[in-house]
Amino acid sequence: MGNSIIDSLKKAKRRYVAQWTLSSLDKYRGHQYLDTYAGPDTDDAVAVKAQVTFYAHQIEKGLSHSDFRYGFGKKALANLSRALDKLRSLDDGYADNEAYLSALSALHEYIVRHNAVGYDITDVRRLFAADVWSAAVETEGVEGGSVVVSASTKNGNGEKTFRELAHERHAIREYADTPVTLVELSEAIDLARTAPSVCNRQAARVHVIQDADLIAKALKLQGGFNGYPMPPALLLVTADNRSFLNVYEHNEGFIDGGLFGMQLLMSLEAVGLAACPLNTVMSVETENKARTLLHIPESEVFIMYITVGHYPEQIRLCKSQRYALSSIMSVCE
Ligand SMILES: Cc1cc2nc3c(=O)[nH]c(=O)nc-3n(C[C@H](O)[C@H](O)[C@H](O)COP(=O)(O)O)c2cc1C
Repeated sequence: MGNSIIDSLKKAKRRYVAQWTLSSLDKYRGHQYLDTYAGPDTDDAVAVKAQVTFYAHQIEKGLSHSDFRYGFGKKALANLSRALDKLRSLDDGYADNEAYLSALSALHEYIVRHNAVGYDITDVRRLFAADVWSAAVETEGVEGGSVVVSASTKNGNGEKTFRELAHERHAIREYADTPVTLVELSEAIDLARTAPSVCNRQAARVHVIQDADLIAKALKLQGGFNGYPMPPALLLVTADNRSFLNVYEHNEGFIDGGLFGMQLLMSLEAVGLAACPLNTVMSVETENKARTLLHIPESEVFIMYITVGHYPEQIRLCKSQRYALSSIMSVCE
């Protein structure tokens, strides 16, 4: 009896210490995030570059839609214009800034595709500074925008090198009508088990959704796939917290789950399936709705959704140009 009271007290103390440690870690990370993220009031050139990339990508997405909607993207274009103005005020070398150049290319394609059918975009033109607009008109359009890929280029993906697969994988948001079988999905998920994980604890889980009604409901809650036809299959990658032994690992699920998600995207490409990762950034309330809808256990954290389908004969996709090596690599001394 005496021992059980002592055990309960020890347990309560361990929980208290764990809770205190978790909240100080979260407080520290919260402050670090608040001080550095690319929020609307940032005056940091790198953060504003991220804003430019974000809004330009929204335009790229509109350009890649098979059901092209003329005059699309007014809000994204207005945001892009503001972010470009800010970038120009913060970066003296803005004319060579890779995000600026990508944005100009996307804008260039926007102008060309509307001009080609005589669609009036005077209101869009008014959103931008005159010199930005003329730079967009004159740009070669090689950086951002959209590009068409044929399904035939995916034949023999199983024999391609990693280098080829890495360069040729792209987020595909529209698919052939052919259903995706559990056998096909299993092959890719099985291959993705090669992903590394902390102390090999393999926290990642994959929930397969094939029911059209469930897919539609889950994607409605997700909110980042609007305007596209529903995919034949949807995967939800999660990480099971029961794989972790102490509070310092409380974010490990996001890391290991993310690594697994990437391995799964490459595996899907290797087996010849088209896919698009989708964020699971949502409010607690929305996450709980999705958790209930898909019967996801409380112990699992959401990592990402992945829409999956077969490649259509031809697909127009976002170029999603990458930053240069020199922008992301530095050597520690
Ligand atoms: C974690 C994650 C979340 C994403 N969320 C979305 C999303 O909600 N909607 C969307 O259309 N694309 C989403 N994407 C796809 C990205 O836009 C795409 O991967 C990026 O532009 C790079 O292009 P690529 O995949 O063709 O190389 C997401 C990608 C990742 C990795």
